[in-house]
Amino acid sequence: MRALAAVGEARLEADGLVLRRPVPGDAPLVYRGTRDPLVREFLQAVIPHVDLAAAERWLAEVPPQLWTGGRAAYFTVVLDGEPVGWAELVNLDAADESAEVAVWLLPEHRRMRTATGALRLVCRFGFEWLGLRRIDAFAAADNMASQVMGAAIGFRRAGYRPALFRSSRTQRLHDAVHATLVPDDLC
Ligand SMILES: CC(C)(COP(=O)(O)OP(=O)(O)OC[C@H]1O[C@@H](n2cnc3c(N)ncnc32)[C@H](O)[C@@H]1OP(=O)(O)O)[C@@H](O)C(=O)NCCC(=O)NCCS
Repeated sequence: MRALAAVGEARLEADGLVLRRPVPGDAPLVYRGTRDPLVREFLQAVIPHVDLAAAERWLAEVPPQLWTGGRAAYFTVVLDGEPVGWAELVNLDAADESAEVAVWLLPEHRRMRTATGALRLVCRFGFEWLGLRRIDAFAAADNMASQVMGAAIGFRRAGYRPALFRSSRTQRLHDAVHATLVPDDLC
């Protein structure tokens, strides 16, 4: 597996959709995203930024630190020049050559297969740029959009994990569906 820190600039593009590394100017996106009820329901440990300045500070510090530390690859999803969402590879495991993926979009950009395109691009980054062997996804059992999106690009169901994570919004425990993707299945 190639070390994330060895990858400087990363930009992936397909069908008008671009994944690029986040910049402080993406503050309006992450400010809204971390306050969105579905993002907070279905992702763990999402802390809403108090204001745009806090989001800007977070963007300037945290994503570059995690990238150079080889811990997480965060991307802003840009559609026709506008930041519309977020894609990430976390829990990067060099020994296992694996990572975990998550994607979210601002609500007005959902249901148009943009998230499916973003998921495909971030998985391509994991396989083609980092040489990962496997990418895992854990979707809440009641998060059908996430499961359908994963299946559309080749994720296969690998298990059911009761009470796997807590909602950031309600602290309620979610059961999760574990799905996994290997390079040959990516479509
Ligand atoms: C999950 C999320 C990224 C999906 O975004 P999206 O723009 O709706 O995704 P897409 O349009 O690319 O594809 C979603 C698919 O799920 C389907 N879908 C959406 N909601 C559904 C539901 N409640 N039941 C069944 N299918 C559903 C869509 O019809 C689409 O399938 P299709 O392409 O065959 O029509 C978006 O809903 C989101 O940001 N949710 C909040 C954060 C989140 O849950 N992230 C995932 C964490 S693991």
